[in-house]
Amino acid sequence: MSVSVTLKLATSMDGRIALADGTSQWITGPESRAKAHEMRAAHDAVLVGIGTALADDPLLTARTVPPPARQPVRIVADSKGRLSPNSRLAKSTGLGRVVVATAGGQHDALTAIGVETWACGTGQVDPESFLRRAEAEGVSSLFLEGGGGLAASFVSAGLVDTLHWFRAPILIGGDGLPALGNLGLTKMENAARWRISATARIGDDVLDTYVRA
Ligand SMILES: NC(=O)c1ccc[n+]([C@@H]2O[C@H](COP(=O)([O-])OP(=O)(O)OC[C@H]3O[C@@H](n4cnc5c(N)ncnc54)[C@H](OP(=O)(O)O)[C@@H]3O)[C@@H](O)[C@H]2O)c1
Repeated sequence: MSVSVTLKLATSMDGRIALADGTSQWITGPESRAKAHEMRAAHDAVLVGIGTALADDPLLTARTVPPPARQPVRIVADSKGRLSPNSRLAKSTGLGRVVVATAGGQHDALTAIGVETWACGTGQVDPESFLRRAEAEGVSSLFLEGGGGLAASFVSAGLVDTLHWFRAPILIGGDGLPALGNLGLTKMENAARWRISATARIGDDVLDTYVRA
């Protein structure tokens, strides 16, 4: 697969991405969030799962100063096409391409307002067929921003090349949402190994960058 995939996590020190009720704004500080916008701008496309789109109603634009010459393609993995035509994302096609990656079906209300639909599998969006479609659509770098369910699918399929992990100096506890959904590992030797390639202080946070070993 020639699409490079970078996963971004923004967690507490104990690896949680949200409170139990799904609140995730804001775990990290303003400097980290500005850095994450630069990261978005540096990729051809940004991807989140429909859980995140429903919880946070994100725009997914790269809000850098100055703004990027072109916004990344903004994509939601949404097998059943649950993204509301009234969401900020669906209503923002004037800012650049918005895509719903589905597992088939007709999504006329979204296509009527300019949202593209890519059929990528049956039942649930298949990460490999998604990446094949993304590549065919001109995407060579993908910035995956979670949530935990979608990130786990890409990690367990071995499709994540780089990991940017922002860690804020807070503790959320075991009732918070974990950064990654289940990976189904039964043997430690089957856990993918990562090599740390950079560490930086970003405001009060730490940014660790890992590449797959
Ligand atoms: N702090 C952070 O960095 C951060 C980042 C993002 C999100 N969050 C938080 O995380 C929470 C949402 O996480 P989440 O895990 O519930 O949702 P998610 O990962 O954003 O979305 C999960 C949904 O994506 C769809 N999906 C499509 N293809 C999939 C695939 N191959 N594998 C897995 N899922 C696939 C599934 O629904 P369908 O089958 O219906 O398509 C699934 O229910 C929110 O509270 C959000 O605020 C935090």
